[in-house]
Amino acid sequence: MEEIDFIKVVKNEIKDKNLKYVILTFGCQLNENDSEKIAGMLEEMGYSKTDIFENADLVVFNTCCVRENAEERLFGKLGEIKKMKETRNTIIAIGGCMMQEKSMLDKIQKSYKYVDIVFGTHTLQTLPEDLYKVIVKNEKVKEVIDIDGEIIEGLPIKRNDKYRASVTIMYGCNKFCSYCIVPYVRGRERSRSPEDILNEIRDLAKEGYKEITLLGQNVNSYGKDKFKYCKNVDNPEINNFAKLLRAVCDIDGIEKVKFMSPHPRDFTDDVIETIRDCKKVTRMIHMPLQSGNSKVLKEMNRGYTKEEFLELAKKMKDNIPDLNLSTDIIVGFPGETEEEFDDTLDVVRKVEFEQIFMFIYSKREGTRAAARVDQVPEEIKHKRFDRLKELYDSQVELQNERYIGTVQSIMIEGPSKNDETKFCGRTDSNRVIVFDPTGKEKIGDIVNIKITENHKWFLSGEIV
Ligand code: 5AD
Ligand code: SF4
Repeated sequence: MEEIDFIKVVKNEIKDKNLKYVILTFGCQLNENDSEKIAGMLEEMGYSKTDIFENADLVVFNTCCVRENAEERLFGKLGEIKKMKETRNTIIAIGGCMMQEKSMLDKIQKSYKYVDIVFGTHTLQTLPEDLYKVIVKNEKVKEVIDIDGEIIEGLPIKRNDKYRASVTIMYGCNKFCSYCIVPYVRGRERSRSPEDILNEIRDLAKEGYKEITLLGQNVNSYGKDKFKYCKNVDNPEINNFAKLLRAVCDIDGIEKVKFMSPHPRDFTDDVIETIRDCKKVTRMIHMPLQSGNSKVLKEMNRGYTKEEFLELAKKMKDNIPDLNLSTDIIVGFPGETEEEFDDTLDVVRKVEFEQIFMFIYSKREGTRAAARVDQVPEEIKHKRFDRLKELYDSQVELQNERYIGTVQSIMIEGPSKNDETKFCGRTDSNRVIVFDPTGKEKIGDIVNIKITENHKWFLSGEIV
């Protein structure tokens, strides 16, 4: 039977039962996007969504393993749900990155025997079949493969938002940064065919979506695999990220294009020129620094030095007017000294990032950095984290002031929480903006707001 047949059989089996599902998503936007596909398949089978955990007949965990705290949260939730299994016979499915780790898979199978379905990052599409086996045949299912799965197209999708949509353009990662588990659990870089991506975005535009976020672990490596994991490639001339970005911007109806995440090493001039030329591309670009010290960067296998990163940031800012950068930083990488950490602070002072996602180094078994004997003690990692946060907070206050007088293009999200007569939205840099509507605007519209006041936690302004 094909997956589509399993959808039909399950649908028939559960019809009139009014069954409900909950999906708990951990981790990054790629996982969020996978969860939208899981929701798409479940709704096609006749399940409907509930936000109340206790009312669910099926709970799906879409897991992450990039840092340790995601694991702790999962095990906490699994403990809570055990009772539901006993009283309601809720079906429990766990999928995603963590299930690609052998030690985690063993732990689930040994200590959490009440879990019904385990699936990996490459086996999402077998969920209908897995459910069929559990519901019809009363079996437990484990569908994890550690080869690099072929790209599956055409899965149904139930999106979380009406105006903003994420579109995965590539899966996996080949970079093998020494601290990171992603290449081991998500496999090799696999680009979707340009035509599949563009068709998906054209359809989204027809449905009224205005903002698209292109997703991948390394979006600017797009096309480097020469599309060898795709079934068909109809548009082979779009063979790199810059060309894809241009093609996406050419789609009528799409007003804003974002992407997440690029790698500094692959941020080539053609990508910079494309962003400069295509006004639809957000002026907020995420550029993960990880560390500001060249020795640490080398040990992280990042492929650039402190100076090269600074040069790239300058080149981007010189070429793209009004550009803002956000970044990821890891503190306490094994062997990192106080002086080396100071280099990270130095880059933060120089680049003045709009947003910094800060992470305390977390040891991931199987990675090169985890095997090092010179791990940084916890309290030192925390102290460094606090110093970085203090520097960043002081910069944010100054940056808020710099917004005054600028014009920001934002999508209207709805009435302001504190004052229902006003509307609010967010800048690309995630700052909340509140303004008085003129009466003509509606939710989902993109409007230009001239910022007039800084209220610390939000900015206010007027429509121009
Ligand atoms: N410890 C801490 N942070 C990590 N990241 C990836 N692996 C680790 C790790 N082992 C961070 C990086 C990456 C972000 C998604 O997560 O900063 O850019
Ligand atoms: Fe992990 Fe590095 Fe790949 Fe990003 S580029 S997913 S940090 S290995």
